[in-house]
Amino acid sequence: MMIYLDNAATSFPKPPEVLEAVRAALAAPASPGRSGHAPALAASRLIHKARKNIARVFGISDNSRICFTANVTWSLNMVISGLGLKAGDHVLSGALEHNSTGRPLERLKREMGVDWEVVPPAKGFLSPSDFKARIRSNTRLVVLNEASNVSGALSPAGDIKEAIGSVPILLDTAQTAGAMPMDDYGQWADFIAFTGHKGLLGPTGTGGLYIKEGLTVRSLAAGGSGSRSESLVHPDFMPDAQEPGTANTHGLAGLAAGAEFILKVGPDRVRRHEMELTQSFLDLISGIPGLTVIGPGQGEMRRVSTVSVVIDGWSCSDLAVSLEKDYGIMIRAGLHCAPLAHQYLGTYPGGTTRFSFGYFNTPADVTTAARALSELARSAK
Ligand code: ALA
Repeated sequence: MMIYLDNAATSFPKPPEVLEAVRAALAAPASPGRSGHAPALAASRLIHKARKNIARVFGISDNSRICFTANVTWSLNMVISGLGLKAGDHVLSGALEHNSTGRPLERLKREMGVDWEVVPPAKGFLSPSDFKARIRSNTRLVVLNEASNVSGALSPAGDIKEAIGSVPILLDTAQTAGAMPMDDYGQWADFIAFTGHKGLLGPTGTGGLYIKEGLTVRSLAAGGSGSRSESLVHPDFMPDAQEPGTANTHGLAGLAAGAEFILKVGPDRVRRHEMELTQSFLDLISGIPGLTVIGPGQGEMRRVSTVSVVIDGWSCSDLAVSLEKDYGIMIRAGLHCAPLAHQYLGTYPGGTTRFSFGYFNTPADVTTAARALSELARSAK
């Protein structure tokens, strides 16, 4: 039997509606926004449905401000590279960033002389006042991983935006979109980068970016858009400006269905379920000798359903192998593409063993995982 506890990497299972939507899309010709025949128009409607559902998830009033991309990393790079940052410009980010922002920021720092400053966490959490205190007259962007994919710590994104005022905020919602209510984000966020294959329960290869009206990002690529075909100049209007090339219609059909599933269940219910599992897991593992939780502990609700642990006498990779081999439990071990976060959490370079619960996990999964950890901790060499 397999117990899948790696939902921070990608969610599993996907709802049957997602599988059916992808199957149906694959069974038809799909060239949205190009040809005028019936299947092409049907493909356009699928993309429209995906845009409409994503707009509902984030409370975005103008669907056209959402463009679809291959993944959240691409969306984050679009903003970080497309704002025209230059030598001396100041950019702030949280310390619990993933390489999806850390690497493009480091590249801008090394190659362009952009001044990238990291806001450290206080007792594991980022605080709005620490961002506010670092804003300068030349701060062009604040980048925030809303929830750490290592510790699960949740940052108060809305409060941070309020604290930084008119400086645009780029939100990495890789670990939050679909996993909690976010239907007011369209009212205050400047850029929302999202992935389709985690909390939104869609296929891999789907993601997107919301760009607030009035903000401009130079597109990383130009090409066919199905619009203004008479011109060699790529369109500057959304979403075409950011969607060169034929869309991933099959994937977006699945994303539309995944987002619809989340909207039907209700992100608040998803959140409640995942938090119940997480808190129960934290309670069950709290007394295990030699085990340390890296991140928010028992009773702390400023978190998502990702729990990292280390166990004395075990390397995180050996622990992952034993969890799979002896218990059928799938988790992720190591640095989780987030070396910066591990440095601030004190787990670099060894890493952690990470459990991440999803909507389809059950209390029995949690009990089995906790029992496995307890047995493995006792057998530590
Ligand atoms: N960023 C994903 C993770 O944390 C893939 O596993």
